[in-house]
Amino acid sequence: MNRNVKELISQMTLEEKAGMCSGLDFWHLKGVERLGIPSVMVSDGPHGLRKQDEHADHLGINDSLKAVCFPPAVLSACSFDRSLMHEFGDAIGKEAQANDLSVVLGPAVNIKRSPLCGRNFEYYSEDPYLAGETAASFINGVQEHHVGTSIKHFAANNQEFNRMSSSSDADERTLREIYFPPFETAVKKARPYTFMCSYNRINGTFASENPWLLTEVLRDEWGFKGYVMSDWGAVNDRVAGLKAGLELEMPSSNGVYDKEIVAAVKDGSLDEAVLDQAVERILNIIFEYTDHREEQEFTLEADHGLAKRIAEESMVLLKNDSILPLKESEKIAFIGEFAKKPRFQGGGSSHINSFRVSNTLDAVPGDTDITYVKGFPANEDVYDEALAREAVEAAKAADKAVIFAGLPDSFESEGYDRTHMRLPECQNRLIDEILAVQSEVIVVLHNGSPVEMPWLSKVKGLLEAYLGGQAVGEAVADLLFGKACPCGKLAETMPYKLSDNPSYLSFGDGENVKYQEGVFVGYRYYDAKEMPVAFPFGFGLSYTSFAYSGLRIDKTEIGENDTVRVSVDVTNTGDVEGKEIVQLYISDKTGACRRPLRELKGYEKVSLKPGETKTVDFTLDYRSFAWYSVEMKDWYAASGDYEVLIGASSRDMRLSGNVHLTAQKRMPIKVHTNTTLGELLADDRTAGHVEHLKKQLEGIFGASSEGGTKEDGDVAISDAMNDAMVACMPLRNAVSYGMCGKKELMDLIEKMNRL
Ligand code: BGC
Repeated sequence: MNRNVKELISQMTLEEKAGMCSGLDFWHLKGVERLGIPSVMVSDGPHGLRKQDEHADHLGINDSLKAVCFPPAVLSACSFDRSLMHEFGDAIGKEAQANDLSVVLGPAVNIKRSPLCGRNFEYYSEDPYLAGETAASFINGVQEHHVGTSIKHFAANNQEFNRMSSSSDADERTLREIYFPPFETAVKKARPYTFMCSYNRINGTFASENPWLLTEVLRDEWGFKGYVMSDWGAVNDRVAGLKAGLELEMPSSNGVYDKEIVAAVKDGSLDEAVLDQAVERILNIIFEYTDHREEQEFTLEADHGLAKRIAEESMVLLKNDSILPLKESEKIAFIGEFAKKPRFQGGGSSHINSFRVSNTLDAVPGDTDITYVKGFPANEDVYDEALAREAVEAAKAADKAVIFAGLPDSFESEGYDRTHMRLPECQNRLIDEILAVQSEVIVVLHNGSPVEMPWLSKVKGLLEAYLGGQAVGEAVADLLFGKACPCGKLAETMPYKLSDNPSYLSFGDGENVKYQEGVFVGYRYYDAKEMPVAFPFGFGLSYTSFAYSGLRIDKTEIGENDTVRVSVDVTNTGDVEGKEIVQLYISDKTGACRRPLRELKGYEKVSLKPGETKTVDFTLDYRSFAWYSVEMKDWYAASGDYEVLIGASSRDMRLSGNVHLTAQKRMPIKVHTNTTLGELLADDRTAGHVEHLKKQLEGIFGASSEGGTKEDGDVAISDAMNDAMVACMPLRNAVSYGMCGKKELMDLIEKMNRL
């Protein structure tokens, strides 16, 4: 429909315009009936609809409509499958159209900085590339139905403790390289209709009133065109927020902040044009939806089937010492209440009122000889002597024992963080007791974030089901019995213990949370520290095996504007059909700056029949090689060598090649009196200008230039020390050492700054 939104706005009163900038109630935006502006509804949540009726409350205590609970992000990200995520989004978009929801509040893409974050189950990954690609595919799927998404929580909302007031204090490079890219990729590849800003502050300024975040970065740099809404109750100063780029406050503030907007326009402290622009952005999205209402047919049944497929293609087989798949002829003990009452989603605003939930016990093939025993309660940490005894007996009597372990609801949820990374003690104890009588043990985990596994070396099988959505039981059963071949890989590292995590010393602080590990988050840290981990990022087993061969890189000498095509052949060398996730990592060999050893820059999932080979292609561009230079205010890749690594996980590189980049962009030369001689000597543009200082200095330090070595222990100044002293000398010392006059030095500095 051809609309003139500006004309419409010109007919609105100041009060109506201010009113458009906050919710009508928990879930609706206001409308203006006399002008034909409808009131539309938004609703959680990322992995299913949570449409509440008039008795709404955003933390989900009241029921919402019966819907399909798809696997939460913690699991779906492990699919590493863009087209599956697109299909997932497509189903959500259809369901939203059918239920008259204009915007779905998701996806949630915050980086998993610590395994303790209570909302990790709603977030995709510790890796920004994977989170961004996954989110973009999902958003495209939803928005094809003219239903908006609200990518959240922008930004650096990585813990629940004090989430409404704490400040995430991170340097700009870290924000740009780790915490922003999922949002940036989504804007560039999927144009989300809306953004949801986070509750927290960033370096002291609330996200909801942060002009740098909401306008400079989001709109001016990335090109976002939709509207930004606040997280529920995230507004601190409404007028400051509006000026910064927060168009919509959610939910309603009962007119309190609308009045402040009106007053600010009247007293001249807020330019009415800012308000008009905000209203225009909101109306554009409202009409994008209402002008494209579609009849939608969807069935809960069919979407349940999709939920199962996503779960199956995402669950991660972590260990298999020839124990899986199970055979229908075996006598099997299922131990643990999760086998019957699986934990399949997390608590809080994303909680779905599932129309059906399947459990593994009911989903196993018909004639299998299964004994089920409860073993321990699913929802609390209580060791029950009688239940444990019964479980041990059942394990002893069976050929194999499958223990369904996991975190109770109360252990992880929106609103608070975990305090440790352990399973309930009653579960660890029972697993040990079972291992004492039965060597054929498989553990199936139901959890929203990694747990410590003290029994890991003793169990023979381990399936990470995470939170599997409502079809969890069928997916687990099919994977355990080999009706489906496991093909998910970890979207996060599983450290052995909590204290190994890079944020260990600063996670969960109150007012100011120092992101002191910088860009070394997740595998970027564990790899740099050469630290053993329980399971690395990108890891996952299959019932078949794959061989990698024939790496081709179409150009090995590239410039900034080139793209590189990388191809590799993957062969299924096993007996069953399966899918492999092929990963591409880049390692910067230029030494221009301290960077992670390698970073994910591409992945593809490929399906292969036994014996079949397929070629997998990747495309790399300048950004694939670059890091964010705060000095340049831009992405920068230095000239030099970069290694292209093809891996089956972040720690299992199969093939590698080299690319040499010649960049035009160079770091700006910024010389001052405290610039060191070493920095200037290392830069070919300035080296010639300071050579003479180096020579003079060597004379002063008494370095041996006459040959003789100074490596013997009895010399006061060795060559190495001399070199270091020369390199570390700030220019200012050239004056105090009598090497040149002050004026001469200042002239030299000025000359170099002009280069
Ligand atoms: C959550 C959001 C959610 C909103 C509405 C907030 O508490 O942080 O993720 O979309 O509530 O339920």
